[in-house]
Formats: sequence, structure tokens, C-alpha cells
Amino acid sequence: MFKQRKVKDIYVVFHLSMMVTILGIHDGHDAGAALIKDDEIHAVNEERLSREKYHRGFPKRSIKEVLELSSTDPADIDLVAAAGIYRKKKRLLQLKKCIKEIIGEPETELLTVHHHLAHSAGAYFTSGWKKCLVLTIDAAGDGVSSAVFIGDDGELKKIAESSYLDSVGDFYASITEMLGFVPMRHEGKIMALSGYHQGEDDFGFEDCIEVSGLGFKNHLEVTGSGSVKKLSEKTGFPLKRKKECSNVLRSGKKDHELWDTAVKIAGSAQHHLENMLEEWCENIKKSEMIQDEFKKRVCFVGGVAQNVKANKVIKKEFPEYWIFPHMGDGGLALGAALQVKARLDKRKIRWDWKSDLNSVLSGPKFLSKDIESILKEEGFVYEKLKDEPEKVAELLEGGKFIGLFQGRMEYGPRALGNRSIVMDPSSEELRDELNERLGREPFQPFSPTILRSFMHTYLQEPDPNKFMTMSYHLTERGENDLKGAAHVDGTCRPQIIEREDNEPYYDIIDSFKERTQIGAVLNTSFNLHGEPIVCRPGEALRSFNKIGLDSLLIEDFLIKEF
Ligand SMILES: [Fe+2]
Repeated sequence: MFKQRKVKDIYVVFHLSMMVTILGIHDGHDAGAALIKDDEIHAVNEERLSREKYHRGFPKRSIKEVLELSSTDPADIDLVAAAGIYRKKKRLLQLKKCIKEIIGEPETELLTVHHHLAHSAGAYFTSGWKKCLVLTIDAAGDGVSSAVFIGDDGELKKIAESSYLDSVGDFYASITEMLGFVPMRHEGKIMALSGYHQGEDDFGFEDCIEVSGLGFKNHLEVTGSGSVKKLSEKTGFPLKRKKECSNVLRSGKKDHELWDTAVKIAGSAQHHLENMLEEWCENIKKSEMIQDEFKKRVCFVGGVAQNVKANKVIKKEFPEYWIFPHMGDGGLALGAALQVKARLDKRKIRWDWKSDLNSVLSGPKFLSKDIESILKEEGFVYEKLKDEPEKVAELLEGGKFIGLFQGRMEYGPRALGNRSIVMDPSSEELRDELNERLGREPFQPFSPTILRSFMHTYLQEPDPNKFMTMSYHLTERGENDLKGAAHVDGTCRPQIIEREDNEPYYDIIDSFKERTQIGAVLNTSFNLHGEPIVCRPGEALRSFNKIGLDSLLIEDFLIKEF
């Protein structure tokens, strides 16, 4: 194992090493850590451990967690890769101090990776592709808000970027804030609201921001609160009513004038976003700076890639696409580690996550015996099941809300069966009741997990997307069977599952199908409204009680109504 620390050229020193352990960290918005040990990846975000949504700050808990998950001694970390370029000396020194406190002496080499390169590396090095484009759009990071990279044989070359001022992500975040929600957090609510809008862009938002070559141009020439103010002038939305607006939306008062106004603004902003993406992709495809062989496949990543409706444009423009499942800043720690790993590793592309759900099941896992001790200690009444899928399917058929807690926690914003709440997807009444129990906004749709064999039955132009990163139009049968898990505009954001992805979860849905002929369940993340997804058994038990779920399957123990 290599232990020398003063390294000028990491290619030369490390390439003969059989096994290098790299710790990736990100200490900004949605901080986290990732550890790459040979081909193994362990990753977790600080919010799941601190219980503070989008935790910002040094990811001390996450680092300890990935070290434990990988049984790694801190002294065996060869390199630390930090996302971000740390322009300010004080911040860099503080970071080094925090790293040293965890890893100890001798000081481990620290490499920094630009925010958008880290986004880009996360997507590229998990795509399995050697030659492709990598597109990033977010609010901003390291002074950049969008970028076009060429991925060529393990190397990423940036050919275009937009400054933090010319930010598409900030435009959408400003709309979010104007309508009374929290920017950088509630953009999904604006996208959901846009589904109620019938027209196109009613406000001419191209006067505010538009495509310029391979980047974007912000005509407002301000971001943040300055942008919110200018957008309110443009749309005539009274900023002093923004709190009232979000309250109207939250309570689902569709006959209120602010409902119509907000829907029109959200729908127009979404429409404009999709128009910009389309023009941007067209410009990229026409660009003479990019050889044709790179234009066949595209990776898309960055906060804006959380917008599953906008992602449909990417799919239309580039049928071979890969949306990185942890597309926001929460995925930066792994991206930074992957970028450094590739440089050490003769730029070898090791991972192809597209067809492997297990790739994102990289978080903490708990032993059955430890869970049983907690259940006993806390006085829960439970039974140990032998045939869990059959029992859970029976409960689902009976209209019950069930928490699922099993295996390793998901990395990324979506619960994909291991920290999920599931129910019969065909009932609108049950959907409304679950919404109420969870305290969710009624205009926000739920999503389904669909058996692969039902993909064509339920979705128009489907592909086996395992990560809930794309919106699809439903077929007639889909609209009928998935009434509780569809959006008002006839779309949904599904997880497509095959048995090898997650046997226990697949078997539950398959047993439910045997009983009901419905090849799907409604799947929403297991957490109290506004909280991070549950990580540990204790949090699952508390949320089970507080939400008022009917049952909780925690590994092979079934807890019924409390
Ligand atoms: Fe970002």
C-alpha cells in the first residue's frame, strides 16, 4: 500500500498501486462523504445522520459512517478528494483541520475538484460509456452554473460554461421563492404545480433568461433576491402576498385567485425551462466543436436534472441518456472521488450503474438481531415473518399504508424500496389520506414502482429507468391502475424494477400483482414531511408512529398498528 504523502504528479506515483482508498467529501449544500476502496463504493449524506435536511458543513458523521461501512482504518486513506476549489485560504485551512481531526497524522494528500467537474465525473464514471457528452446545469458552484463536457476515454474536457450570473437554476429557484417556497429546496413543488397549467409560456420569460450558444444569458443581470424582485415585476405577482400564496397552494384551494396565478407562473417557467433545454441541446448537437461520435450519448447532472419533466427533453434529444441518480450537490462527494480515482486508474471506466439498482444502495445497513433488540427495548409488538412478501401484499390489498425498512439505505433523493412507504397505487382516496397523514401538499403527485413486465402496459415510450429520474406519459391502463400514483397531467415518475434489483421488494409487488392484477405499488420516501429520509431503525419506528402507518416491515419483523 502506498503511503508517501508529498505528491506532485499523482499519475506517476499511484498508478502501480493495486488498491487505493479515496475519500470524497463535500461540505456545502447537502454535504456528504463517499469512500472508494478498489471497486467498492460506500456513500452517505450528512442530512441522513444529522437529521437536518440538506445539511451544510463538514460531513464528519458521513466520513465516520463510510469508514465503518467499508471497515477502513482512517490511516489507510490514501487521498482525500474535496468537491469545490476553495478559493478562500481560511476555508481551505479549516477543511484541512477538520480532515486531520478525523484521519490524524500523517496529513493525507488533499485534492480539490471543481464543482461542475465533480458533478460531471459522478455522471460520466457511472455511465459505463467511454465517449459521450456530459451536461451540467445547477444554480451555481465555483462560479459556474452550466457546463458542457466531452467525456473521452476516461477524461473529461470542458468546452463551454455559463457564469453564476447566467444561471438557469437560479431562475427556477427565484420562481420558487417568489411563490412563497424555499429556494434550493422546493423546486419540485413548482414542477408539480406546472402540471396543472394548460398553456405555454404566458409571460415571455425569454426576456429574462435565454440560450446563448452552448450556454445561457441572464438578461435580468441579477440573481437571488434581485432576480425575485425583477420576476415579480415581470409577472405582476405581488411579492407581499408570497406567504399567502404558498398557504393557498398548500391547502389546495383551487378556487382562490392566487392558485390560478401561481399555476400560470409555475407552468410558464417550466415551459420556458424546457424550451431552453431543447434549444441548448440542439445547439450542442449542431456544434462543430464536438465530433459526431460524442453526440450519440449524453449524461445529465446538476440540480436542474432533478426536474423529471425537463429531463424528458434530454431523452427526446438524446435517446441514449444517463441521468445521474444523485444529481444535486448531494452527489458531489462521490463525483470528486470518482474524478480522482479515474486519474489514478489510467482513466478506466469501472462502473455502469444504468442497469444496476444496487449501485445506489450504498448507505448504512442494520442487523436483524440489533433491530429485534430495539423492538423489544421500545416495547413494540411484532411478529417475525417467514413469508414477508405474501403478508405485505395481503395488507396492501386491504388498503394499508406500509413502511419498508430493509437492507442498505439509498444514496440520492429517492427511496427505491429500502426506506419507502408503499400502498395500493390505484386508489385516489387512499392517496389523499396518505397525503394528509404525511402532511404533504395535495398538489404534489406520488410515484409508482412498476414491475418491468408491466412497463409497456403502463407507460408510453418507456425505458427501464430504475432511479425515478424521468417523467413518462401513462397509457390508458396506466391511468386506471395507477390513479393514486399519477400526476394530474397524465404523467408519472416511475421506478422500474426487476427481481435482481431488489428481491424482497420485487416479491412484494409481484405478490400484490397476483392478488390484484396491478403490477405496481405507490412508493414514497419514508420520512416525516420536511425531514430527511429515515436512516436508522429508531427513526423508522418514530416516523411509523408519528405518520400513523398501518404496518412496518423492518427487515423480517412486521409491526402492526400501534
Ligand atoms: Fe451543484
